[in-house]
Amino acid sequence: MNPKVILHNAVSLDMKLTGFEVDMGVYYSLAAQWQEDATLVGSATILSAPDEIPPETDRDFLPPVLDAADTRALLVIPDSKGAVRIWHYLRSLPYWRDCIALVSETTPAEYLDYLSKLHIRYIVCGIDKVDLPAALKILNEAYRVNTIRADCGGTLNTALLSNGLVDEISYLVHPVIVGNGSTVKAVNDSLGRPVNLELLSAEKMEPNLVWLRYKVVTE
Ligand SMILES: NC(=O)c1ccc[n+]([C@@H]2O[C@H](COP(=O)([O-])OP(=O)(O)OC[C@H]3O[C@@H](n4cnc5c(N)ncnc54)[C@H](OP(=O)(O)O)[C@@H]3O)[C@@H](O)[C@H]2O)c1
Repeated sequence: MNPKVILHNAVSLDMKLTGFEVDMGVYYSLAAQWQEDATLVGSATILSAPDEIPPETDRDFLPPVLDAADTRALLVIPDSKGAVRIWHYLRSLPYWRDCIALVSETTPAEYLDYLSKLHIRYIVCGIDKVDLPAALKILNEAYRVNTIRADCGGTLNTALLSNGLVDEISYLVHPVIVGNGSTVKAVNDSLGRPVNLELLSAEKMEPNLVWLRYKVVTE
């Protein structure tokens, strides 16, 4: 079975994802409602966070103690190039119970070795880029992931939409037109065909925001 996938983004009125101040309080309070089994985060998104990353310590190389009763989501990041080298830090954050990297057959072996040393689980799927439909199926079947909230930029949003993997889109519209202040769009121009949507709800949120929810109409 395919997991249900929800794209949740804070957008400007001209559909940019950066170049304005996101109301994080409202954005994450809305995000919490899905109680996703996995948060799918783009590698560029995770690496763009301004966090100061502490160096690895010996403890980071010990097997993590996992609690079967832990209901927090899994953190899942497609990273075929092996760019994310901050897993020890991501795993220490309180938002997720565990982490999974999605890699491909061309991901450098040295990166897989790095993941193994840190006890970060990974799924090999796809030849060059991660085969998203196959990876999501494995997450469902092997990790019981039924609901995914995607927290990513236009690149991964577009790849998910192109593969027909998105069920719902949630946009928290901020009262600003960014113009050339940013090139990061919610959906990239590489999307090859229109995606038809059905409006589920449109709600004014304080202060001065609009929350739009759409269902993706499948042909
Ligand atoms: N306002 C908001 O709500 C919001 C939310 C999230 C992010 N952002 C912003 O968005 C920006 C990052 O966006 P971005 O578009 O550059 O990057 P992104 O979507 O965060 O990251 C690109 C991801 O797409 C994957 N990918 C690319 N092509 C693919 C394909 N054909 N098949 C499968 N996976 C594919 C990449 O995997 P590989 O590494 O394997 O190539 C990578 O994980 C940041 O500035 C961030 O702050 C804003």
